[in-house]
Order: sequence, then structure tokens, then C-alpha cells
Amino acid sequence: MRVGDEIEIEIHDVAFGGDGVGRHSGQIVFVPFTAAGERVRVRIVSARKQFLRAELVAVLAPSPARTEPRCAVFGRCGGCQYQHLDAAEQLRVKSAQVRSALERIGGLRDVPLAPIVPSPEPWGYRNRITVHAAGGVVGFWSTDRHTLVDVATCPIASEAVNGELQHLRERAPDGGHFSLREPGIVPAGFHQANRFLLEALRDLVDDAFAGAAGFLYEGYCGSGFFTERLAARFERVTAVELDARLIARVPRVERVDWVQGDAVVEFERCKPDAVLVDPPREGLPPRFVELLAAKTPARFVYVSCDPATLARDLKRLGAGYRVKRVTPVDLFPQTAHIECVAVCERAG
Ligand SMILES: C[S@@+](CC[C@H](N)C(=O)[O-])C[C@H]1O[C@@H](n2cnc3c(N)ncnc32)[C@H](O)[C@@H]1O
Repeated sequence: MRVGDEIEIEIHDVAFGGDGVGRHSGQIVFVPFTAAGERVRVRIVSARKQFLRAELVAVLAPSPARTEPRCAVFGRCGGCQYQHLDAAEQLRVKSAQVRSALERIGGLRDVPLAPIVPSPEPWGYRNRITVHAAGGVVGFWSTDRHTLVDVATCPIASEAVNGELQHLRERAPDGGHFSLREPGIVPAGFHQANRFLLEALRDLVDDAFAGAAGFLYEGYCGSGFFTERLAARFERVTAVELDARLIARVPRVERVDWVQGDAVVEFERCKPDAVLVDPPREGLPPRFVELLAAKTPARFVYVSCDPATLARDLKRLGAGYRVKRVTPVDLFPQTAHIECVAVCERAG
């Protein structure tokens, strides 16, 4: 198979990241913007020994789950991968991807997977976006990350955020990166982005600690989104965040020690009864997992924005813990991102 060749294939799955997966002469073929069960004509764009990458030329037999994308730049803009799939299919695909990551990467075969929590609104949910300006264009990076795609309005962002985008475009900036946010959320640094799922996510994490007590250690606490709610359950909480801009804005909460610092360094110093983490995409540093295994808190709850690093870290944690439940949450409809909340209990 050579770059530029056209072939017809059947798509049998959608992989984490969003590409449809097919097969041709024994080789795996990845094709963005396709759906499981479809027959498609594709053009090879890169050929490696192990797999081929291709672009969609024509859908020959569409999936019943295929739907009309809402955005004019869908397929060019790197922000969304699933606007061509209906809501039910997006949820099905994401659940299957979490199951597959737990099994393939984590070696975890019997983990109870709760039904995925859908977003009450699959559009207009983002309370913040980051856009870029260069060469007279204001928008998002393209799917190949090489060019900026001009974006006048983003259908997954809220009306208020789209208003900010319009103001920015009127100012016609020469260049730079701009974080556009709804009023009322932290002006800089991390903030949970789906405005319709904030309470449900907080409830899920709170429920994960049902029956837990004593001393909670929370790593990667941001501006205290979960901490504030959890404090009522524990006698004492240490909550750690690296970003000084976020820790400067945490609320005053009785029994909570807020620490600006590194989650691993601070974890070395304490012996908690329960642990909560919500790390960036890269997941937990190996040292953090080692410390967890050594300190043996009774309950460990892991909020993750990448099923692959979640599965890797749960595997590293080893047999000292039982994964009681993993709940996927569709925080980012239309995109390939998946949030998960994993609840682990000390074994024995
Ligand atoms: C996914 S966010 C979660 C924030 C918070 N749980 C929330 O819901 O708002 C991850 C956070 O980890 C912080 N972070 C990154 N590296 C860190 C480190 N080494 N130690 C502590 N915090 C870190 C980031 O600044 C970010 O606020």
C-alpha cells in the first residue's frame, strides 16, 4: 500500500482519540470521521509497517448513527472529532474505549464499569476556550496542528464565551493565545470546563468517599472544586496545587490546609486515611503511585481525563488495591476526550 492509493474498507470500531478502525490485507487502517459498521472509500496518507493512516473520500454505506455535523469547520478544526456521530453512539464509543483501556493497558478484566454519565446538553457547554491569533486569523489549530482555522463561533462553547470570541475578533489581535471565559470562573489556570456537569461531577466524587473518614490528602486540587464539598466528610484535609494563581483563590474552609506545592513532595510528608487525585493528562508520576502502595490509605479516588494513563496507573498500583468502580463522564461531547472517576479500596 502506498501513500495516495485509494481503497474500500469496512470500519469495525472507533479507537480512543477518535479514529475509525478498519483492516486491509491484514493491516490496520485508521480513518478519522468515520463510524463503526460503515463501508468507506479512503485515501492512504501515511503507510507504516504496523498500520496505515487514511483520509475519508466517500461514505459508501453510512452507519445509522451518522449525523450532520453542526459546525462549518468540523473536519478541519482540531477541536471536535465526533460531530458526525449521534449522541447515543458517542456515549457507546466512549464507554467501550474506557473498557478497552482498562483491559488492554491496565490488565483489569473484571472492573465494574458504571454507565457513562451524559452531558445534559451536548452543545454550548464549554465555559472557557483557548483561541489563538496569527496572520489575521483567530481560531483553533487544525486537525494536523499545522495551521490556524478561522473560527467565528464555536458550537460547543456557551453563548457568553462566544460573545467573548466575537469581541476578540473585533479587536483583530496580531498574535497570541487567549483564554476566553464566562464571568465568575477563575480568570487564569485550570477550571472544570463543562458548565452543565459541575454538580454531577462533584456529587460523583463525594459519593466515591461514602463511609470514608479521618484525614484526606488531595493532590492536584486546583482552586478547591472538590475540596470544598469533601471537607464536611473528613476531620482534616490537606489539599495541594502547584499553580499559585489557583491556590490564591481557594475558599476559606474549616479543617482544610491549602498548600501551594508539588503533589508528590507533599504526599511524602503525610499518612492519610483517604486520597483524592485529579492530575493532568499525563497521569500520576510513578513515585506518587509507589507512595500510595506504601501508605495504604483505605480509599483512593482517581479523577482522570485520560483513560490510558488511568489504566496504566491502576496497573502500577498493583494487588494492594481493588478497583471498586470506574464511572466514565462525558464532560466533552463532540470531542474524543473522556473523563473517568475510579474508586479503589485497600484490599483485604
Ligand atoms: C485536571 S486539573 C484538576 C484541578 C481540580 N481538581 C479541579 O477540579 O478544578 C489538574 C491540576 O493539577 C495541577 N498540577 C499540575 N502539576 C502539579 C503538581 N506536580 N503538583 C500539584 N498540582 C499540579 C494543575 O495546575 C491543575 O490545576
